[in-house]
Amino acid sequence: MINSNGNNRKFIGCEPYLNGLASFICKLEKENYNKIKLYKNDIRELLFSFSKKIFDEIFILFPDPWPKARHQKRRIINHENLKLFSSRLKINGKIFVATDVENYFESIQRLFETFGKIKIMNTGSFDVRPKNIISTKYEKKAVYKDIKPLYLEAKKILD
Ligand SMILES: C[S@@+](CC[C@H](N)C(=O)[O-])C[C@H]1O[C@@H](n2cnc3c(N)ncnc32)[C@H](O)[C@@H]1O
Repeated sequence: MINSNGNNRKFIGCEPYLNGLASFICKLEKENYNKIKLYKNDIRELLFSFSKKIFDEIFILFPDPWPKARHQKRRIINHENLKLFSSRLKINGKIFVATDVENYFESIQRLFETFGKIKIMNTGSFDVRPKNIISTKYEKKAVYKDIKPLYLEAKKILD
């Protein structure tokens, strides 16, 4: 997730598990220390603590898929959470999503299409990684298993 101001881009990374944060910190280069803040908890808690329309970009990359039907309501990308994500984005701000779970992607696409305040920007090229998205560990895992990740780039067009 990013809040940028010209060249002075600031990032906030969010992860509830200490191990995940620790492995990220180990890889973080010193010159980036002052650009990045980390939050150890649920992303929703972090977003509620901010005022509205603060972010330029939000990245949700390979969110936990919760593949079993009875667990699908736990998926982070649902209508209620999209309202929260969208409320913290500036107008013309972007949300980027990536997943290697086809039925999750389809539900995300439907949700974004019907949400009304957000416009999908990369219709027709969901299999091409938008240039703003970095390659992550889970993307590499998917590619290694010969699974093609899918990407969504959407712009907030209305409040
Ligand atoms: C499948 S991993 C993907 C990690 C990384 N984004 C990547 O692409 O390699 C999903 C990560 O999302 C984190 N996560 C799940 N629900 C979350 C939430 N509500 N807030 C913040 N992080 C969450 C999990 O702890 C896990 O580290």
